[in-house]
Amino acid sequence: MQVVEAKGFQIPIIGLGTWALRGRDCARLVEQAIRIGYRHVDTAQMYDNEAAVGEGVRASGLRGEVMVTTKVQPERLAPHDLERSVKESLARLRLDVIDLLLIHWPNPRVPLSETLGAMAKMKRDGYVKQIGVSNFTVTLLAEANKVSLEPLVCNQIECHPFLDQDKVIAACRTAGMAVVAYSPIARGGAKGDKLLEQIGKIHGKSAAQVSLRWLTQQGIAVIPRTSKVERLSENFALFDFELSDAEMREIAGLARRDGRIVDWSWSPKWD
Ligand SMILES: NC(=O)c1ccc[n+]([C@@H]2O[C@H](COP(=O)([O-])OP(=O)(O)OC[C@H]3O[C@@H](n4cnc5c(N)ncnc54)[C@H](OP(=O)(O)O)[C@@H]3O)[C@@H](O)[C@H]2O)c1
Repeated sequence: MQVVEAKGFQIPIIGLGTWALRGRDCARLVEQAIRIGYRHVDTAQMYDNEAAVGEGVRASGLRGEVMVTTKVQPERLAPHDLERSVKESLARLRLDVIDLLLIHWPNPRVPLSETLGAMAKMKRDGYVKQIGVSNFTVTLLAEANKVSLEPLVCNQIECHPFLDQDKVIAACRTAGMAVVAYSPIARGGAKGDKLLEQIGKIHGKSAAQVSLRWLTQQGIAVIPRTSKVERLSENFALFDFELSDAEMREIAGLARRDGRIVDWSWSPKWD
C-alpha cells in the first residue's frame, strides 16, 4: 500500500469512506475492505456509525495495521466538549486509540487556538495519535498552522476532477500537510463522464478508477465509499496503470466553477 507522508506520519493513500453506511452492513464492509488490503478507514461523530466501524476493524483481526480517522462535530469544538466527545468516540469505536482526529468543519464561534489546544492535549494524553483538519480554506489553514501546538498532518477536502482545488492543495503542500480527498468519485458522478470513460477504456479501467488514479497520481489520498463489496476491489485497483501527462491535463480540464457537491450552506458562518 502506498502512503502519503506528512510531518513524519504515513497516511495510506486509499481509505474507505463510510458516510451513510450503518450497522451490520457497515461493519461487514469495513472488515471486507481490510481483508482486501485497505489500511485506512474514515468515519466521523456525525456519521452515527463509529460503533460499526470499530466492530469491522476489530473483526478483521488487523487492527494494528489500520489507520482509523474520526472527526469532531463543529458544535463540539469548545475544549471541554471536544475532550468529552473524543472519549465518547473512543468508547463507541472500542479501539485502543484514534489514529487521526480531525476538526470536521471549522466553527467560527470557537477560537481555533482553543480547539487545537484541546486536540493537542488529547494527543499528549494518548487518546489520539495525530491531529488534522477538514474543510479548511487557505486562510484558515494559515491560522491553524500558526496556533497549533502539535503538527497538523492533513486537510480533508472535497476533491475530484470536477472541482478546482489547486489553491488549497498548494497551501497544504506549503504547510507540509497531506491532502485527503473526500467524494473522490464525485459521489458516483465520475461514472458516466465521457472523458473519464474514454480514458478508462484505453487503460482497461472504469471511469471511477480513472478519477481515483488522477488523485493518487498527484500524491493525494482518497477515501471512496461504496456499499457494494465488488466495488471495494474496483476502487482499490489503482496501481497497475498510469495516466499520461496529457491525460492528467485533460482530466484537470473537467473542473467547473460550480463543481462542488457537498453543500457548505449549513455550516456556521464567520462573522
Ligand atoms: N470531511 C467531510 O466533510 C466529508 C464530506 C463528505 C464525505 N466525507 C468522507 O469521504 C467519503 C467519500 O465521499 P462520498 O461518500 O461523499 O462520495 P464518493 O466516495 O465520491 O462516492 C460514493 C458514491 O459513489 C458510488 N460508487 C462507489 N464506487 C463506485 C464505482 N467504482 N463506480 C461507480 N460508483 C461508485 C457509491 O455507490 P454504491 O454504494 O452503490 O457503490 C456512492 O453512491 C465519505 O464516505 C466520508 O467518509 C467527508
